[in-house]
Amino acid sequence: MAKVAANYVCQSCGTSYSRWSGRCEACGEWNTITEEAAREAAPKGLSGKGGRKLEFVDLTEPATDEAERRLTGIAEFDRVTGGGLVRGSALLIGGDPGIGKSTLLLQVAAAVGSPTAGGGHTAYISGEEAVAQIKLRAGRLGLATPNVQLAAATSVRDILASLDRTDTPDIAVIDSIQTMYIDNLDSAPGTVAQVRASAAELIRVAKRRGFTLLLVGHVTKEGLIAGPRVLEHMVDTVLYFEGERGHQFRILRAVKNRFGPTDEIGVFEMTDGGLVEVANPSELFLAERRGNVSGSAVFAGIEGTRPVLVEIQALVSPSPLATPRRAVVGWDSGRLAMVMAVLEARCGLAFAGNDVYLNVAGGLRITEPAADLAVAGALISALSGLPMPENLVSFGEVGLSGEVRAVGQREQRLKEAAKLGFTEALLPPRRGRREGTAETPRLHEIAHLHDLADFLGVGNAPRRRRS
Ligand code: TYD
Ligand code: MG
Repeated sequence: MAKVAANYVCQSCGTSYSRWSGRCEACGEWNTITEEAAREAAPKGLSGKGGRKLEFVDLTEPATDEAERRLTGIAEFDRVTGGGLVRGSALLIGGDPGIGKSTLLLQVAAAVGSPTAGGGHTAYISGEEAVAQIKLRAGRLGLATPNVQLAAATSVRDILASLDRTDTPDIAVIDSIQTMYIDNLDSAPGTVAQVRASAAELIRVAKRRGFTLLLVGHVTKEGLIAGPRVLEHMVDTVLYFEGERGHQFRILRAVKNRFGPTDEIGVFEMTDGGLVEVANPSELFLAERRGNVSGSAVFAGIEGTRPVLVEIQALVSPSPLATPRRAVVGWDSGRLAMVMAVLEARCGLAFAGNDVYLNVAGGLRITEPAADLAVAGALISALSGLPMPENLVSFGEVGLSGEVRAVGQREQRLKEAAKLGFTEALLPPRRGRREGTAETPRLHEIAHLHDLADFLGVGNAPRRRRS
């Protein structure tokens, strides 16, 4: 007889347990384990019992049409997907509720359907909104094409009956996977079991029929709905749609892509007329910068294949608290603690007794260690009250002894800085031989954070913030 498998499942990472507990040992989340309908364990001893013999192909055989791609014509989207949507592949678009996933996919579907993109057919299946609601939105966005077919459904059986046919569409959008259910599973929609099984069925049909499957997945912290994390290994591409609530900028980021590079970003602006592509993000991120204020530094970063300049803002203010606050938006708080510790230990600067705030303006999240030097500059400037030069960009990684380390894509960063009118750059010393280049900004090579403090006129003496 088949054994009954463990039936307590973490809704965040999908680990199963035989007993309930408050905290998932695998991912560390609290209150994410819920009871699910029992699954039957796979029968043992399958060997030699009527399986189908596999057909192997060797590496020299030409690839099939697997990588057949379809460009949508939305350049920001096409770049993030690595050059368009691949036939028979499955993409997961994750993001917070209300961030704009449905809007993005409706626009993508309409773009694919336009004659310039080849007039591809899309089936847009929503489990969250009524057809009339989606039509209303499409109307407001000025999207009218017969090539996008709308339906409201949540039953995977119904959806498969409509998609698993010879006249299948080119693209199927499932919005969202957490609302879908398979009727022979007892679990509620949105649980790990339902989300996984529904996705598996849809992906199987997408592969067989050769359409591109776009799954929307909500990210939640509550653990009542299974997070997209349980799906990440099942799909070919995982995109996250991020943005700070209250900001109009939205960033589409590839975190996994079997058909292209990851870490690529697409930048959009949410307007009354839907999402608008931002072809030059640096301009946008620096648009509201006010020069000549202390605590502001411009970081010349690289996001995927593209240079992006962003403003890093720091604020240091005397704290009434016994344990002063350290708050970070858009950067890693551990990394901030490290840069501050290095400034204290190696440059004699004192942050004790001060609250420290760090913000990456515009709602971008930076993960590059190359931002260390700009962060250090912003911190020193905030602490001393002396502004950094207005036309200066910085990049470089900081080590624990205060040394500034080289980072990649130096030329690309400088080129973008020059394009946006920056005339000076703080950067790590060049490794290896020097060659004449067309670097336009004046270069200040910073080998150690001491040099940075000197450059900013703070020197070695610990200096308190002017009040
Ligand atoms: P939506 O695509 O429904 O988000 P998701 O599918 O990720 O839950 O986007 C909803 C938000 O976007 C909503 O708060 C309103 C805003 N929005 C605009 O600002 N302009 C627009 O043209 C549209 C369609 C939505
Ligand atoms: Mg939605």
